[in-house]
Amino acid sequence: MKPVKVLYFALICSAMILLLNLNAYGQAKVTKEGFGKTPDGQDADIYTLTNSGGAEVKITNYGGIVTSLRVPDRNGKLDDIVLGFDNLDAYLKGHPYFGAIIGRYGNRIAKGRFTLHGVEYKLAVNNGENHLHGGTKGFDKVVWNAKPRKVANGAALELTYLNKDGEEGYPGNLSVKVVYTLTNANELKIDYSATTDKDTVVNLTHHSYFNLAGQGNGDILNHRLFVNAARFTPTDAGSIPTGELRSVRGTPFDFTRATTIGARINQDYEQLRLGKGYDHNFVLNGKIGTLRRVARVSESTSGRAMEVWTTEPGMQLYSGNFLDGTLTGKDGKVYQQRYGFCLETQHYPDSPNKPKFPTTVLRKGDRYHTITIYKFSVRGAK
Ligand code: GLA
Repeated sequence: MKPVKVLYFALICSAMILLLNLNAYGQAKVTKEGFGKTPDGQDADIYTLTNSGGAEVKITNYGGIVTSLRVPDRNGKLDDIVLGFDNLDAYLKGHPYFGAIIGRYGNRIAKGRFTLHGVEYKLAVNNGENHLHGGTKGFDKVVWNAKPRKVANGAALELTYLNKDGEEGYPGNLSVKVVYTLTNANELKIDYSATTDKDTVVNLTHHSYFNLAGQGNGDILNHRLFVNAARFTPTDAGSIPTGELRSVRGTPFDFTRATTIGARINQDYEQLRLGKGYDHNFVLNGKIGTLRRVARVSESTSGRAMEVWTTEPGMQLYSGNFLDGTLTGKDGKVYQQRYGFCLETQHYPDSPNKPKFPTTVLRKGDRYHTITIYKFSVRGAK
């Protein structure tokens, strides 16, 4: 080819690539609707993020809750694969953290106490004698500021919240930002960041209950799970880690080879008895701060699969043990025991009282920043 022709060819190719990108970008969108008022008179909204392939996530700024997440099965059929409600009142009546952002400290802090720089802080005690998921009014129950954000590869929503010094007993004004992005590659990406004006502890996570066969469509015991973790943190009867990092080898906690969640859940193993199933933190392989694949789940009837990628050192596997049929969710579906599973990426529970665990202290002037991605795909696509 002559140089001029090569130039023309290159120009045409770049124009086509640009058009393709613009097209994808043009299709992804965010829309907003009212979702009702909280008891203290604040407006809650619901945002629908749609990507270029038609996958869709609905997020309310009340608790940063993902209320619905629709992704394709192997035939391209979209289904909602997270538990939740279609109205604010149901969330206000109380629920086990369906789809919410969890903070200031996700998971438990023993007896609701920790000491930082010689000062003891007393937190709300809301789970037996312990503090769970940020206390009585954690980040799952506050109204966040929300604004759609322009991104090149999908649709995004930015949520911000100023968590005041002393709220639920934590020190320091914590300025929190969570950006949810539904990418055009069917990933739900969650980018968490925070800064403080006084040294404090922070551990943010997300609490969606997934059922890849579709929300309300039976239990999750046949989902096959792989977790890239050689160890887990055994707990006492109150679900507080004992401090031991136990090898998963030879235990029902070995998911280093994909195994169904239900295969060993009823085994006579002390940790399963204490958690009434899986409700434990895995010590993820790989380096803290490095975004790496830590889990994969697949469901054979729908062909759906989900990978979890994170920068975090730990992940709680919760098998929906406390669901008991008393909650009726979207489409009138009744949520029975083990109808959903959570993979809550996090630091290990009770880290503020466990000097040997990776630290959850955020110092004044430093920036907390973690990323977690739930990536959806299908197996056996036609
Ligand atoms: C977390 C906890 C569980 C339970 C659920 C909500 O995942 O680890 O013990 O409290 O939240 O029911």
